[in-house]
Amino acid sequence: MRERRVIGAELLEQARQRGRIVFEILPGDIVTSLATETAQRLGIQLLEGPLEKPAHPVTDGNTALRRGLYRRGAKWVAPARGASKAAKRFGKIAIVGAGGVGANIAHLAANHDIADDITLIDIAPGMAEAVALDLNHAGGITRTRSKVTGSADLAQVAGASVVLVTAGRARSPGMTRADLINVNKRIIHSIGEVLKVQVPNAIVIVITNPLDEMTVEMLRVTGFPRERVLGMAGTLDSSRFRVSLAKAAGVATADVEAIALGSHGDEMVPVTSQAKIKGRPLNELLSQQQIDDCVQDAITGGGQVVALKKSGSATIAPAHSSVELLDHMRGAKTGPVPVSVMLNGEYGLDHVVLGVPANIVLSGLLGVEQLPLTDNELQLLGIAAENIRQRLSLN
Ligand code: 2OP
Repeated sequence: MRERRVIGAELLEQARQRGRIVFEILPGDIVTSLATETAQRLGIQLLEGPLEKPAHPVTDGNTALRRGLYRRGAKWVAPARGASKAAKRFGKIAIVGAGGVGANIAHLAANHDIADDITLIDIAPGMAEAVALDLNHAGGITRTRSKVTGSADLAQVAGASVVLVTAGRARSPGMTRADLINVNKRIIHSIGEVLKVQVPNAIVIVITNPLDEMTVEMLRVTGFPRERVLGMAGTLDSSRFRVSLAKAAGVATADVEAIALGSHGDEMVPVTSQAKIKGRPLNELLSQQQIDDCVQDAITGGGQVVALKKSGSATIAPAHSSVELLDHMRGAKTGPVPVSVMLNGEYGLDHVVLGVPANIVLSGLLGVEQLPLTDNELQLLGIAAENIRQRLSLN
């Protein structure tokens, strides 16, 4: 039998000095009240163990050896919440649009080895083929098993279980996402017409802006059920919100839990009532002004990139945020994730696509998670819904 440990303040202080922010409490351990206070003071999370050990990433021999050596030190930290060993691998995924976002998604998907076949499609002749070739050339280093193919023919989506749609015009400085409705609606319609014939059972992840409106259009044109047409925005907006909060509080982003819901635009709803920094409510670490600034930073994050680039919008964070959805679908990440879905009474709203926390699996949407939002947050979601409805009826 394992000896019961008495966890005292000194042990935690030593752990903190060694860089630990998480301390594993095993069954039978006795934690003194001073130790509990010390953990709070030092920002150490006391987690009931035994904790799952992190999976060894696929790597080369030298790195594995170095990792093995360092593991003997006291640097091990609990795996990020939601990590799972039971991740599935996709057979074929297709990405429509091989611009900055599409190419980055393919890059990340290949690097994470999440599918046998990653097919990139772009209307510009040679574009998707070039990106595919470039990515495959890296395979001698990355050793990924994923094969990337490129084509200008949309029919090449055939056989994909997931299709990510990034095609469309991006914003220029001064434009809102809503300004893109007319031009991108036509693109979504022409893609959707092909998807419903070529991949009638696929899950479609819409990334084209304006996101919520384009997800509605994709639902309309394909006639697919809401479970199979998802919009990517909440993971991106939430990431921006977390980064902003972490910066304001001077902590690591891993210490911040926060999500953004609502529309992917000015009516975004970064959820301050549920957000936590080191497990504590925002107002314990930040002033109201700082919190308001972080909310604005999340809302304007995409526009800040557009303003700097002058032409085109963000590509890297949107690609990570898209792969985050794929990872939730395949079980590499678990728990709810913000995703835009057609609402069916959830949060008191229906017949409108809005970002909400949801559980997603290989077959798409499993269910929307009902969070205890404040009246103000619910009201903001209602305003976002109303504005999306209006924008769609005007176009
Ligand atoms: C963004 O927020 C492109 O809408 C995307 O960066």
